Amino acid sequence: MTGSLGDGIHSVRVQHWDRRLFDELIPLPDGTSYNSYLIEGSEKTALIDTVDPEKSGELLSNLEKLGVKKLDYVIANHAEKDHSGSIPEVLKAYPDAQVVTNAKCKEMLKDLMSIDDGRFKVIGDGETISLGDRTLRFVFAPWVHWPETMLTLLEEDNILFTCDLFGSHLASSELYATDECLVYEAAKRYYAEIMMPFRGIIKKHIPKVRDLKVELIAPSHGPVYDNPEFILSAYEDWTSDEVKNKVVIVYASMWGATKAMVDYLVSELVDAGITVKPFNLTKTDVGDLAIALVDAATIVIASPTVLHGPHPAVAYATVLANALRPKAKYATIIGSYGWGGQLVETLTGMIPNLKVEVIDPVVIKGFPRQEDYRALKELANQIKLKHETLGGE
Ligand code: FEO
Repeated sequence: MTGSLGDGIHSVRVQHWDRRLFDELIPLPDGTSYNSYLIEGSEKTALIDTVDPEKSGELLSNLEKLGVKKLDYVIANHAEKDHSGSIPEVLKAYPDAQVVTNAKCKEMLKDLMSIDDGRFKVIGDGETISLGDRTLRFVFAPWVHWPETMLTLLEEDNILFTCDLFGSHLASSELYATDECLVYEAAKRYYAEIMMPFRGIIKKHIPKVRDLKVELIAPSHGPVYDNPEFILSAYEDWTSDEVKNKVVIVYASMWGATKAMVDYLVSELVDAGITVKPFNLTKTDVGDLAIALVDAATIVIASPTVLHGPHPAVAYATVLANALRPKAKYATIIGSYGWGGQLVETLTGMIPNLKVEVIDPVVIKGFPRQEDYRALKELANQIKLKHETLGGE
């Protein structure tokens, strides 16, 4: 699929309409796209990022359709194979092309695939290459995702190519983010699943991106932003330290005791004016869970006791939440046991990355009784009081 971002600036993206899982982990309800961009200068031609290796043929056919006979540069903003995996095929088709990237990305590309050393041109932070009447400037952004990540600015046209940063897993025939409601949800899901662990570093980079005053932000997944303010302000919100008056509850229940505790706690929290998102982990899309974690103030982990520890589905969600590093301020644990176990010790030991205060857990024997419901009522009250200290929404 091709599209124009201006005279001599082409999207040569490939849609993966029916891909439903990324990294064997992340659900893709809307598929995804791998966006590659062709920049024609008066003297040289550059391709910015490539596509998933499974789609190399489509990328090459896009270039053929545009009549590209010679490529001088292939810019690799990022080594992950959904953007770099077609580089070997592109280099085969365009024998004069050099791979332009930073030293770290070169090292990673060589770890991941076979590319001759002589095909690389290594650039430094802030360095430029000239295409004649156009200039590409490289802006290093390590750890906004991976350690080698960089952005590429097309100076004369004020277009920033950001690879994964600001992207969305959204296959679409639309080149631009015209339906901002649709793209907002997809971009938030993408941020939650992929970018959230790097929140602190991304937050520091947003002012630098603002300073560039670009007219277009062109990521390598999902639509191009012709209103950069839309995605920049969304990222400022998501990466801020502010949390919402919201509780996310992850749970599994085998015989109904934990479910009864969750239902009661949900009801008490709602009565206290708190937004609640319970996730039955046997039926949950982990992307929806990740989105809910973006701005929740409190995470409640609810589990029955299975052979002395948490239910495996709860353990999975807990490991995931720990890896995603949401900005929640509080966490607690509720659950039930039959004859003993170490639910609280095991689960609290699984969340070292969460900078949370752990509110006193409520773990009971068997099915909840009046005193257990009273403890849950008190827990809801504790959460309400904690949230009141945060201010905001
Ligand atoms: Fe879209 Fe980090 O790859």
